[in-house]
Amino acid sequence: MLVENSQLTESAAQFAADVRAGLNRTGQKELPSKYLYDPVGSALFEAISVLPEYGLTRADERVLRQNAQDIARLLPTSILVSELGSGSGKKTRYILKALCRRETLFYYPIEISATALALCERELSDITCVSVVGIESEYLNGLCKVTSQRTQGTHLLVLFLGSTIGNFDSGADRRFLKRVRETLTPGDSLLLGADLVKPLSKLIPAYDDPTGVTAAFNMNLLARINRELDADFDLREFQHLARFNQQTSSVEMHLRSKKPQTVTIPGAKFTVRFAAGETIWTETCHKYTVKELVQLAQASGFRCEAQWIDDEWQFAENLFIAI
Ligand code: AVJ
Repeated sequence: MLVENSQLTESAAQFAADVRAGLNRTGQKELPSKYLYDPVGSALFEAISVLPEYGLTRADERVLRQNAQDIARLLPTSILVSELGSGSGKKTRYILKALCRRETLFYYPIEISATALALCERELSDITCVSVVGIESEYLNGLCKVTSQRTQGTHLLVLFLGSTIGNFDSGADRRFLKRVRETLTPGDSLLLGADLVKPLSKLIPAYDDPTGVTAAFNMNLLARINRELDADFDLREFQHLARFNQQTSSVEMHLRSKKPQTVTIPGAKFTVRFAAGETIWTETCHKYTVKELVQLAQASGFRCEAQWIDDEWQFAENLFIAI
């Protein structure tokens, strides 16, 4: 109990420090996208994933469902599965079912959101051959916990689905996968889901849907700062913005100040000024090419063994093997 308490205060302090650093930057203000996923944000993302304009999650699920047997055939029989950011766990069930052979299959979802972890455990509870061991932690720390528990001769399959990899800034995706690779043993695998480049007429509505769910998801970050850091953001004076950056091939989400205004954030001990039209950059969603993903594997200590692509909504599932 004591440990949990100190972790809680530590993450509250970290949130305050990150908000302070991001909003005090000279030039483009920014906030880390991981903070979008509090209980409200996680629920809003679940809603986004069923929007007709947002094809990404369904494409991910479809490729996994249609190719689970194929994927399983390329993997060793004695295997542990871990997942970075399981979300609801819905799309993971196809892979887990295909991997269930004789003995119990251990599945370690790693999540910073306790809400998502609980959802995931409930979602998968009906698959009797799978034992779900949730790990509430940051990705790399969680992965170290998993690898410290493995026995010799057991392979590890790491799932990183839903194109979360696209949330890293340019170059940071490779650096992150290198760190994942460092926790692995040669022969271990990484199944990476990545959204592919597609026409803007499909991309923009996916991040700026007419019902405003994505706007609410983005805006909730300010509401969270109000709730947790006692700030006085007037949400009605900010506006959701989604735009495509051609240079980085990414959809960027921003929150735009409609007027000059000052916001006080007592929980982080500072005040911040916004000019009219100034934005806070809240998320990057990089869109890959198939070739770029093969190069990403090579640049981070893997080889790309196979790729499966959904052609209704261009999305790739990539099987990387640690070398
Ligand atoms: C969960 C990170 C894959 O980047 O498309 C959805 C998050 N942001 N709508 C994405 C998101 C706005 C999503 N990922």
